[in-house]
Amino acid sequence: MNEKAKAKSMANAQIQLNAGRRSFLKNSVLVGGAAAIGAISATPASASGEDVILQKQDWRTDLGDGVGTRPYGTPSSHEAHVIRRNVEWLTADPVSSVSFTPLHELDGIITPNGVCFERHHGGIAEIDPAAHRLMIHGLVDTPLVFTLEDLKRFPRENRVHFLECAANSGMEWRGAQLNGVQFTHGMIHNVMYTGVKLRDVLNEAGIKPTAKWLLVEGGDASAMTRSIPMEKALDDCLIAFKMNGEALRPEQGYPMRLVVPGWEGNMWIKWLRRIEVGDMPWQQREETSKYTDLMPDGRARRFTWQMDVKSVITSPSPQAPVLHGKGRLVISGLAWSGAGKVSRVDVSIDGGRNWQPARIDGPSFTRSVHRFYLDIDWNGEPLYLQSRAIDEENNVQPTKDALRAVRGVNSIYHNNGIQTWYVAKDGVTENVEVS
Ligand code: MTE
Ligand code: CO
Repeated sequence: MNEKAKAKSMANAQIQLNAGRRSFLKNSVLVGGAAAIGAISATPASASGEDVILQKQDWRTDLGDGVGTRPYGTPSSHEAHVIRRNVEWLTADPVSSVSFTPLHELDGIITPNGVCFERHHGGIAEIDPAAHRLMIHGLVDTPLVFTLEDLKRFPRENRVHFLECAANSGMEWRGAQLNGVQFTHGMIHNVMYTGVKLRDVLNEAGIKPTAKWLLVEGGDASAMTRSIPMEKALDDCLIAFKMNGEALRPEQGYPMRLVVPGWEGNMWIKWLRRIEVGDMPWQQREETSKYTDLMPDGRARRFTWQMDVKSVITSPSPQAPVLHGKGRLVISGLAWSGAGKVSRVDVSIDGGRNWQPARIDGPSFTRSVHRFYLDIDWNGEPLYLQSRAIDEENNVQPTKDALRAVRGVNSIYHNNGIQTWYVAKDGVTENVEVS
């Protein structure tokens, strides 16, 4: 391993979870746009006199594995640190818990299947597809029971959508808490789903005119249920059986899950086995659990299904510090909105005093993440990095303080506040707040 690779793997090994820590840098000294931006200096980062190019490595002399030795490929062993991680103290038991996507290691817009964050309430159901059925009943003309093969005979659609847990960034309401974008923002993944329209399947059963709501239920041990309003069900929901081209992973609901574009992750029922059509939300009939947002006065926001406009810089970030010193620096991140496409992302390097438009690169799909970049010439002075997304409905991502002024700090859900990363002169990066 060369020096840079070593430093990088050390940075990864030293991921700190600043449990209970409050690095509240209120009124901290800002750099006031001191880091110059403009023409990138023409110093290629790699021209540092390393002699690796002259060395004779094993892989240049020894023959490698032949085809067929890896019938299902996995990443290079040098990428072994690119994994989902969980925070042990967050939940009492791993069967009802969450693991986080390593956002700081990824690029582009697609989350590889093996590192999509997972959230289960009763562990991973290992389902034999031949023994799995989906039932549709309630206010329908003909109750129906489908096999997976039956479902695959409806016309298919391919769509790229983000799934964000409503609790993403939930630990950050009271202040900067977790030192890594994986933990502050990693309850999101963005996948291309192949599936069939929920509308087509409902129409097959025939919905009665009084039908207004669906109760959707998972086939896992938690038998998780959620109510979905009929307008959404008939609009853009899918029953998906493929993710990024291959069968859903067991963690993501194999053999079928509901896709509810732009809406809270908890409504995307995995291991989908039952859809009951009804005339009112199930929360009004019985105590069906649901996520809700507690306001400062003790009242709760009721239905907050749509996920808000949000963005975060994934690199540099605490788990992806700047290792190369001043000069060319690629600032990169993700932006998304449950309302549709992201139309603009601004980036600040001085804690929100000055903003400049970032470059969105890669496909822009509705209710999908967007990848953005800002390429700067870093003068080596500390940076306070922030990003701010604006969606096609002109919703603007708020500062954390603006959000707290309206919603207080009692909630754990729907925190879409602007994130700040402090990059020190030595490149070490931390989760902080500025105001
Ligand atoms: N569906 C079932 N059947 N059981 C569950 O525990 N968790 C929900 C939702 N669907 C859950 C479920 C929650 S809270 C979220 S955020 C998403 O699944 C997470 O999806 P993922 O595990 O694919 O990331
Ligand atoms: Co969730």
